[in-house]
Amino acid sequence: MTGKILVVGSNGQIGTELCLELIRRYGSDKVIASDIREIEGEVSCVFEPLDILDQDRLRMIVTEHGVKQVYLLAALLSATAERNPEFAWRLNMDGLFNVLNLAKEGLIDRVFWPSSIAVFGPNTPKENTPQDTIMQPTTVYGISKQAGENWCQYYFEKFGVDVRSIRYPGLIGYKSLPGGGTTDYAVDIFYQALEHQEYTCFLDEKMKLPMMYMGDAVNATVDIMEQPKENIKVRTSYNLAGFSFTPAELAKEIKHLIPEFKINYDLDYRNDIANSWPDSIDDSVARNDWGWKNEVDLSKLTEIMLANLSPKFNSEK
Ligand code: NAD
Ligand code: SER
Repeated sequence: MTGKILVVGSNGQIGTELCLELIRRYGSDKVIASDIREIEGEVSCVFEPLDILDQDRLRMIVTEHGVKQVYLLAALLSATAERNPEFAWRLNMDGLFNVLNLAKEGLIDRVFWPSSIAVFGPNTPKENTPQDTIMQPTTVYGISKQAGENWCQYYFEKFGVDVRSIRYPGLIGYKSLPGGGTTDYAVDIFYQALEHQEYTCFLDEKMKLPMMYMGDAVNATVDIMEQPKENIKVRTSYNLAGFSFTPAELAKEIKHLIPEFKINYDLDYRNDIANSWPDSIDDSVARNDWGWKNEVDLSKLTEIMLANLSPKFNSEK
């Protein structure tokens, strides 16, 4: 691969694991991590502080390092965005334009930009939500993702910008913490289960949502970027699915391994956000176009999370 890879938002839930995978596949000299927050801990690649809204600095980093691929992860997620809609719109849209416009100028060859199941809304078919369907999102986050998808397609069609995208479901991993989404409960529950054997959930016990193990999501992300251009037939964003579960079903899985675990419910505004999203996703288009498949199911995920988080808890005690 020619040129370097820039990850924007590298300190976040996905960025942390994505940088590790990019370094594993291409070497640490190929990867540049960047974030508005200073890096915590050790990174094994170059780190550049960057506010993605500062296009001059982005341009400088891209030209100085010879960056040819950008993974743009900086955004406000669903729950945080609802609390600050105007800023969420600005960050989520202007950040994307800043990257797309450098690609349009020819400075960057390939862009990854994540969309979300939040592009769907309450009028979307809930079960096996198809790739192409009604999209009337009711959150500012969903509106920004839907607009972003259309801008990605526009830049591809009008200017030949090679931008690729996945509609991630809720992502669950043990190496990093989530940053303000509605699906965050499905990570927090494991920490609370290990520390207190009890968790109070802000979603209804029957709130089924599409989810995925972070390792699968990161593999999909790098895999779609490695595809030859002709395999990428969707230039808005691809549906991607792992498995779906409710908080009650997740609690039951955890109880198999921690029998004393107990879940309580205290719903907040995030329950309304979740209620507007699909229960399950049809990702057959991604499977056919570029061979996507997930490896991890719910019981495997539960095992992985508890096995990897419990040593952390034991060593901190
Ligand atoms: P996160 O909140 O954990 O990480 C985002 C990172 O971006 C943070 O480290 C933050 O410091 C950084 N950032 C914020 N503002 C910035 C700015 N102005 N300039 C540079 N960096 C900035 O989010 P995440 O979960 O890693 O999500 C990354 C992307 O994936 C987002 O676009 C999100 O919408 C999308 N996504 C995530 C999920 C999920 O479950 N995590 C699901 C669907 C889509
Ligand atoms: N996991 C994300 C969120 O809850 C979905 O995009 O905001």
